[in-house]
Amino acid sequence: MKDYTLFIVDDEQTIREGIAADLEDDYRVFTYKTAEDALEDLGVHDPDLVLLDIGLPGMSGIQALKQIKAVRSDILVIMITAYEDVDSVIECMKNGAYEYIIKPIQMEGLEVTIDNALQTIRLRKELKALQEDQIRREMPCFIGESQVIHDIMGYIEMVAKSPDTPILIQGETGTGKELIASTIHHRSPNFAGPFIAVNCAAIPKDLIESELFGYEKGAFSGARDGGKKGLIEMADKGTLFLDEVGDLNLDAQAKLLRFMEEGEFYKVGGTMKQKIRTRIVSATNKNLDEMIARGRYRKDLFYRIGVVKIQVPSLNERGDDVLLFADYFLGMFNEKFKRALTGISEEALELLKLYTWSGNVRELRNMMERAVLTARGPGLTPADLGLDELEPAKPMEDDPLAALPPLSPAGIDLNAMRFHMDKLYFSQAMALAKGNETRAARLLNLKPHTFRYQYKKNIEAQETTAKKTGAPIG
Ligand SMILES: Nc1ncnc2c1ncn2[C@@H]1O[C@H](COP(=O)(O)OP(=O)(O)OP(=O)(O)O)[C@@H](O)[C@H]1O
Ligand SMILES: [Mg+2]
Repeated sequence: MKDYTLFIVDDEQTIREGIAADLEDDYRVFTYKTAEDALEDLGVHDPDLVLLDIGLPGMSGIQALKQIKAVRSDILVIMITAYEDVDSVIECMKNGAYEYIIKPIQMEGLEVTIDNALQTIRLRKELKALQEDQIRREMPCFIGESQVIHDIMGYIEMVAKSPDTPILIQGETGTGKELIASTIHHRSPNFAGPFIAVNCAAIPKDLIESELFGYEKGAFSGARDGGKKGLIEMADKGTLFLDEVGDLNLDAQAKLLRFMEEGEFYKVGGTMKQKIRTRIVSATNKNLDEMIARGRYRKDLFYRIGVVKIQVPSLNERGDDVLLFADYFLGMFNEKFKRALTGISEEALELLKLYTWSGNVRELRNMMERAVLTARGPGLTPADLGLDELEPAKPMEDDPLAALPPLSPAGIDLNAMRFHMDKLYFSQAMALAKGNETRAARLLNLKPHTFRYQYKKNIEAQETTAKKTGAPIG
């Protein structure tokens, strides 16, 4: 198989064809009479190496070399010169030529030069692959086996492929928004570029513009002498993560919007337009819809930063993932604190499932850190977790039937009544437990599987039928 592609650019047909005939068995070879033709084909055939005559009609070899290096600095260029024109050769070498050869061409010498050049290319490619592999291995580890998390990860995989589509991540505090932003970066074509995280809430409001866009020397009193690069510029060819994007004031929102629409910006006090290429990932735990309604957030910016939106579910909505996390953090902190806790007791696991994690993964992580550090062992017990234990639903003291109407001679529809009562309490329990079925079951003094079975049978089945028939529910 031919691994490398070579361009030969020379206006002398005998030279072009002579070299091509000699190399064609080992490489994919394309020949060109002029530099213009060769440049046009750069993007089409993607050469590894270009043999380039210095004295060409039209664009000279030196000019062509500069253009090749400007667009694809990794292509190696070997200059061909008719005589030892020292000045031209020196200029070529200064502009990044790999080597030069003098006409008349000695094929053996040329083959050695090409061999060496290709050896350099091979080593570079290997090094790049190793570096990329290393970066990907350092990718953050995103834990979760629940269906919602699987769906989100699948979606992330898809949207990360674009290098510049803006993505907005929304979710409660501690749900992993920053981790998702970093995962997007690592799975995107920009993964080898920088990941610059900016906490918009932490930058004083009169500094936000100069922090984001940078400033020129002497732009304002207190500005550093040499001026300063902004965070946006630092994120060139990478990802700019705007955390707490809901905390930007209206003035900063307008400036960010202008940059996102035009892809260009001026430094504070600067007169030169700058252009950079970066993907903006934003995150917030604020309700932007509500802020828009109150005139605190620009609707046009909301649409711009949220071309793709990711809603991260709270930990309580992720089913048994809470146990997976607990186990993961147990291993992590065992290692960190050189402890050897053997596991988590059944009662403690039950408690983890029932607890309402308002601080989400961060709260669970902090709790496990403390528990692993202080537990007596060998395993973690409910007492080690230091969470408020949930009481099971209290047995009813009053006669629950007292509130019901007595049976009249007209009779009642007992089935309908049971259904309505179930519907009322099941929905209330799910709302109180924020969708955590185990916790909802506990509130109704039912076993989780009984709750699940009856809930599905009574409520979900009703809703599906209603959707299919268009009939109102209940
Ligand atoms: N799926 C996950 N796998 C592993 N660790 C996670 C996961 N989700 C969150 N974490 C960990 O939980 C902590 C909080 O996550 P992160 O900082 O990403 O949350 P956030 O949504 O940005 O919170 P906030 O809104 O408060 O800024 C971090 O230590 C993070 O590593
Ligand atoms: Mg965060």
